[in-house]
Amino acid sequence: MAVLFGPFTQLVTHPEARLRGPLMDEELVVIPEGGILVREGMIQAVGPFAELSRAFPHARAGERGATGPNVVMAGLIDCHTHLIFAGSRARDYAARNAGKTYQEIAAAGGGIKDTLRHTRAASDDELLRLLRQRLDRHLRSGVTTVEVKTGYGLSVAEELRMLRLINRAGERHPAAVVPTCLAAHLVPPEMPDERTWLTTILEEIVPVVTAENLARRFDIFVEQGAFSVPAAREYLLALKERGFDLTVHGDQFSVGGSQLAAEVGARSVDHLEVSGAAEIATLAASRTIATALPGASIGLGCAFTPARKLLDAGAALAIASDWNPGSAPQGDLLAQAAILGTFEKLSTAEVLAGITFRAAAALGLSDRGRLAAGQRADFISFPTQDYREILYHQGSLKPNRVWISGSPII
Ligand code: NIG
Ligand code: FE
Repeated sequence: MAVLFGPFTQLVTHPEARLRGPLMDEELVVIPEGGILVREGMIQAVGPFAELSRAFPHARAGERGATGPNVVMAGLIDCHTHLIFAGSRARDYAARNAGKTYQEIAAAGGGIKDTLRHTRAASDDELLRLLRQRLDRHLRSGVTTVEVKTGYGLSVAEELRMLRLINRAGERHPAAVVPTCLAAHLVPPEMPDERTWLTTILEEIVPVVTAENLARRFDIFVEQGAFSVPAAREYLLALKERGFDLTVHGDQFSVGGSQLAAEVGARSVDHLEVSGAAEIATLAASRTIATALPGASIGLGCAFTPARKLLDAGAALAIASDWNPGSAPQGDLLAQAAILGTFEKLSTAEVLAGITFRAAAALGLSDRGRLAAGQRADFISFPTQDYREILYHQGSLKPNRVWISGSPII
């Protein structure tokens, strides 16, 4: 049975916009009094509501929700988060603002290791409760697909526990959850060196991930104090051989990660705050998606990823929240993407692409992120009559309605 949703004051999307390079606002398709025809959770047609109701007279009327103006767009996609953790790093935040650096705090046993202690000590129920709470908050902000990384377990048993919990939360939550194994976040305190830990992951974690189908993607933090380029290269190539999708935390404080990501054909490389001309050129010439994480720039008080330069060079730019207790505690994807847009002079079309179909591509997904026939019927509406208001309010205008697979969730 087909269901026709609408009319919406405006329907805004990029049905055919390209994956790479700059996008002009003229390339956005804005349909006044638009409608969406859904069948079995997928979009069958998008267009003027009146035309769709004439063409599909037997379609059931979908719930339109609140009265008043509303602008509908594709559900947001957050392609980089660390949402499974316990504890708070408010102390680190205050210490950084009082003059200590992220690396100094980490070297003194704070940082990721502090979250590691709290996360390991938390029960399954507690971690599930915290994760669900964060997924709920994201859903209310319009995020319908969420990538969630491990990385605060950092032992074989704890990393597998995190992956199982992420999967369990995903099965029970309306949002689509994409798990990623970031066992290579740091060398665990119990391990002698990086190669020993990476070998342990390959020998003891990867076979269980495969057997239990716990994740299709692996990530690594390439950075001084985390993993070196040569060790990361071997690790990523071994994972590629086993058929996994790759992603890299790269060029956050020092360069190296982005070049490696492009070399091994990673789906994405995320951070890129210190990428220069050479790194930008490499990414533009590669198929790897460049993901900006403005929440980490805001959280650490660092420069933003050179998003404008990346786009102008021809790279594909996704924007994600990096929501985590340390560098990016704020967690509001839409607010962060809007703010990145103001600093980097990104068009509305580029920002919206970065948190929809370009973010989907960073996850290897082509079935979402646009309002178009054949896409998942994940869409959100905002109580306004002008799509430009969505970014203009810099995150303070929240969706008043969220649909997932054609079902109203909020
Ligand atoms: O993406 N850079 C490495 N990992 C996280 C931060 C993790 C943390 O500080 O807890 C990030 O910024
Ligand atoms: Fe991250």
